[in-house]
Amino acid sequence: MFILSQQPSIANQFLAELRDKQIQKDRMRFRKNLERLGEVLAFEVSKTLSYQKKEIQTPLEQMEMQLTSDQVVLVAVLRAALPFYQGFLNFFDQAESGFIGAFREESGAELTVNLGYHASPNLDNKVLILVDPMLATGQSCVESLQTLLKHGTPKAIHLVAAFAAPEGVEHLKKSITIPFSLWLGTLDEKLNSLSYIVPGLGDAGDLAFGEKI
Ligand code: URA
Repeated sequence: MFILSQQPSIANQFLAELRDKQIQKDRMRFRKNLERLGEVLAFEVSKTLSYQKKEIQTPLEQMEMQLTSDQVVLVAVLRAALPFYQGFLNFFDQAESGFIGAFREESGAELTVNLGYHASPNLDNKVLILVDPMLATGQSCVESLQTLLKHGTPKAIHLVAAFAAPEGVEHLKKSITIPFSLWLGTLDEKLNSLSYIVPGLGDAGDLAFGEKI
């Protein structure tokens, strides 16, 4: 499990601004910080891809460079993932994309996740990167992955979150029985009784796009 905040870097500034209850009120800055975190994490994930030598002709000479031979599929869990996904797409600019509409439903003490919409390209032999900025209970991530696997068998699976709770990480580890890599911006302390990540940042979807009714 890779945790970006464990290393001193400018990414911690982005995480701090996302958490800060004054700064996060600036919706554009909030989205931009999620996008910037997506870019940094995309760069980290890119180090694990397969690379092949390719000839490049510059105006002056022919040379060899190591370019990825992998086909990447990015999948965003709507709606909160959109800015974070954009960061990934900025770096994996030739990737195919899929989208999953997941929403939380509370009935009594029970929280369930509904996947209302999903669209994905074929995943056979491709590198799947599933981006969901808030890994809280882990339910939406597990259910999204189960749905996606009906679209083929990826050669590698990367699950990426900006903020995670230990409960979510445990849920992934126990529910996903095939190999996957987990990439986090930061790992927080716990979930509260409403399944929000603590200390976290609040509701990422509402902060990025406005409160839903
Ligand atoms: N989704 C959010 O937006 N925030 C949380 O803390 C958990 C899930």
